[in-house]
Amino acid sequence: MHNLGVLLSGRGSNFLAIADALSSGTIPDTQIAVVISNLADAPGLTAARNRGLNATAIEARGRKRAEHDAEIITTLQAHKVDLVCLAGYMRLLSPGFIQAFPQRILNIHPSLLPAFLGLDAQTQAFEYGVQIAGCTVHFVDEQLDHGPIILQRAIPVLPTDDAHTLAARILEQEHIAYSEAIARVLSGNYEVLGRRYVPKTGDD
Ligand code: GRF
Repeated sequence: MHNLGVLLSGRGSNFLAIADALSSGTIPDTQIAVVISNLADAPGLTAARNRGLNATAIEARGRKRAEHDAEIITTLQAHKVDLVCLAGYMRLLSPGFIQAFPQRILNIHPSLLPAFLGLDAQTQAFEYGVQIAGCTVHFVDEQLDHGPIILQRAIPVLPTDDAHTLAARILEQEHIAYSEAIARVLSGNYEVLGRRYVPKTGDD
């Protein structure tokens, strides 16, 4: 059985999509061992508790990043987490966190990386005038929205779109992409060559 740890700061729709994929068997032999938020009032934390999952707030306020991260690492390890999924977790990870889970931390970003890093990526893409938008699931390294790409999903920007409708349609793609990327990584059926995710024969 694989154990996932989910870190979130907000509404948690990606977390819920992952939880649904686990319930429906899309990601085999896997469970969410713990959901952690840096914000006690994150709706995603409430949603996790409503599903009967271990869900805990580890607040960052007034603490050094490394110290806060160390408590999160301890909690993840206590739940025997082997893959950490950032799902709208709005804090940068310290190098110690990344080293504690080498190539075992995933993030989802609502743009086709390397375009439009950071906050409000969907609005950045819309205002830039791109005609293809999308989302990226990637391994986390020490730079923002930067590690090797596991999977991307693209959609056209429609003439009728505004930043809000575009973000909503990207979010639909995120909900598909994250579970697929988790299944890919847990299968172990790949290697990372430089920055390139390369499936081994038999995988797509
Ligand atoms: C998503 O757009 C994700 O790509 C970004 O933060 C947002 C989180 O949304 N990293 P939710 O909390 O999963 O609904």
